[in-house]
Amino acid sequence: MSNNLFNAVDFSHFLLREALKSGDKALDATAGNGHDTKFLAELVGAEGRVFSFDIQKEAIANTKKLLQEAELEENVELIKDSHAELDQYLNEEISAAIFNLGYLPGGNKEIITKSKSTIRALKKAVVLLKKDGVVVLVIYSGHDGGDEEREAVLDYVTDLDYKKYNVLNYKFLNQPGPPPEVVAIKKRN
Ligand SMILES: C[S@@+](CC[C@H](N)C(=O)[O-])C[C@H]1O[C@@H](n2cnc3c(N)ncnc32)[C@H](O)[C@@H]1O
Repeated sequence: MSNNLFNAVDFSHFLLREALKSGDKALDATAGNGHDTKFLAELVGAEGRVFSFDIQKEAIANTKKLLQEAELEENVELIKDSHAELDQYLNEEISAAIFNLGYLPGGNKEIITKSKSTIRALKKAVVLLKKDGVVVLVIYSGHDGGDEEREAVLDYVTDLDYKKYNVLNYKFLNQPGPPPEVVAIKKRN
């Protein structure tokens, strides 16, 4: 490991890398431009499976293109639906999930993840976690609605039973503006 303090996205990837091995199943709750989905697909390999959700056609297309270029599309199920409905598509144990919240970079900034559906999806993802698995959230609170979503996520994870889950919050404290932050939930047993 390097001596650097990771930024939020790099730290989220560090946690995912620790949790995933070849053959595992993983969830990307917000496909966006596909960077996280590609990262997960590389980690789980040809024997594994990634389930990747987004409500925007553009995000699904961008993710598909990125996966095709990397010859990884076979390992990924791309689902154009809300992550709140994830249990309709996925009922297997997963080793890791990533929620990169907010809006699609380079896309319509009015289409954002929202607290109600984020919490519904988060609850379902936590249920699917296997022992030692992690759910990782990257949270941005600088845009309209972002702070409300952040509060909802922090309220939900703070109440998780500490005997079953370790919950962590990672952020830089001395940045101008609200810093992106990571919340991670690790299943203990
Ligand atoms: C910050 S971006 C994700 C970035 C992405 N992980 C990447 O690596 O490029 C957030 C995405 O969440 C999507 N989104 C918003 N609400 C959603 C929902 N209810 N279910 C699934 N995706 C949603 C948006 O369309 C947007 O593409």
